[in-house]
Amino acid sequence: MFNASTYIKRRKLLRQQFKSGLILFLGNEESPMNYPANTYRFRQDSSFLYFFGLNTPSLAAVIDIDAGREMVFGDDVSLEDVIWMGYLPSLKERAQVAGIRHTASLSRLEEPIARALKQGRTIHYLPPYRAETAVRLSTLLKKPAARIKKAASVELIKAVVSLRSTKSAEEVAEIEKALEVSREMYRVALRLARPGLYEREIVGAIEGIALARGYETAFPIILTINGQILHNHYHGNKLEKGRLLVIDAGASSPLGYASDITRTVPVGGEFTPKQRGVYEVVLRGQLKAIESIAPGIKYRDVHLATARAMALGLKELGLMKGDIDEAVAEGAHALFFPHGLGHMLGLDVHDMEGLGENYVGYDKTVERSKQFGLAYLRLARELRPGFVLTVEPGIYFIPPLIDKWKAENKFKSFINYARVEGYRNFGGIRIEDDVLVTDDGCRVLGKPIPKTVRDIETAMAGKK
Ligand code: GLY
Ligand code: MN
Repeated sequence: MFNASTYIKRRKLLRQQFKSGLILFLGNEESPMNYPANTYRFRQDSSFLYFFGLNTPSLAAVIDIDAGREMVFGDDVSLEDVIWMGYLPSLKERAQVAGIRHTASLSRLEEPIARALKQGRTIHYLPPYRAETAVRLSTLLKKPAARIKKAASVELIKAVVSLRSTKSAEEVAEIEKALEVSREMYRVALRLARPGLYEREIVGAIEGIALARGYETAFPIILTINGQILHNHYHGNKLEKGRLLVIDAGASSPLGYASDITRTVPVGGEFTPKQRGVYEVVLRGQLKAIESIAPGIKYRDVHLATARAMALGLKELGLMKGDIDEAVAEGAHALFFPHGLGHMLGLDVHDMEGLGENYVGYDKTVERSKQFGLAYLRLARELRPGFVLTVEPGIYFIPPLIDKWKAENKFKSFINYARVEGYRNFGGIRIEDDVLVTDDGCRVLGKPIPKTVRDIETAMAGKK
């Protein structure tokens, strides 16, 4: 945990944004996999972690704005818990570490809530993303479970987003610790990306690195020779020379902060000329994005600048044609780059996405586009110092999408379909780094992980 002062300050800043009412936070429960005692690894709710730092299941908290009182609800471990799971300090002792003086048993949570309901006071809560949280909220608030998510407090969502979006120096340091683990994961992955190995062997090795260092993976590892499937979690293919391998993986630090890196490497260690051509285009786009990031700039504009840089490269390769500015404005590049440039990063890999993408990535000045490709942009709003975000452009050759657009003659003045056919089995390339917006530009977080063609080939040859 950070020092108590961090959590005290965060809660104070939150309270200041409200005039009255209660704020109710529910921590996460253990989640059974196939029978009650066999659970998935426990993950605390990120907003609960942010404001209270307590990383154990079955906790809740209430902040009474009018009384200025903060209370954590939970139960001390029983002798049976101690026998099976080990000792845990009392809730009172643990809450003190987060600067909380008032605690009570979880069974008493309904008392302040019932009282507030009776008095007609507003009870603010965040939208649940787990069914059991919706059910608990439904029971506490005496509202049908189906209506719980919709009735979440927009005021609270906006307040939490405003606080969590700006990362403090200690949060950035935590993300950089996760990036140090990522660096080691990639060092090993690049050495192992040899013909004959199965994807799962590399997944096992790099997940093991995170675990061995007391970290966890921040999301299920994407490691695939079929990189054209954006979030491919199948790991059963044998690596063959001539294929590209997309590796998109992140670590989660003991305090819950994530890293999120992608590298694409040639199986066997050397890019073919064709792979190198497309790789250089994606890299040019990624560097263009990083160069463009600064406070006051809209991430949507960074996305579009990257799309134009990559579309120009695709034109040089003969895959696109015509006026590139026009092609990007109309969305023709989305055949190759059908996703957004990146997202916020923090306690969640897609930071705060559970609170609603539009609250996190959009503001009054930017509306979500309906255009294919641009519509998937998770972060479009104006950037501010302290934001941490991913920069992850990619170029993919997705056969079903190519076939559909080709059959429809879609954007035929911008896309050279005859030439695209020659890339049908190419796969995909994505390059991703994590970036902090500073007062006058940005800083790529963590120590460098091989990214240029030369650095990747050198690292794969074991020379670095
Ligand atoms: N790293 C996976 C994603 O950003 O969606
Ligand atoms: Mn990402």
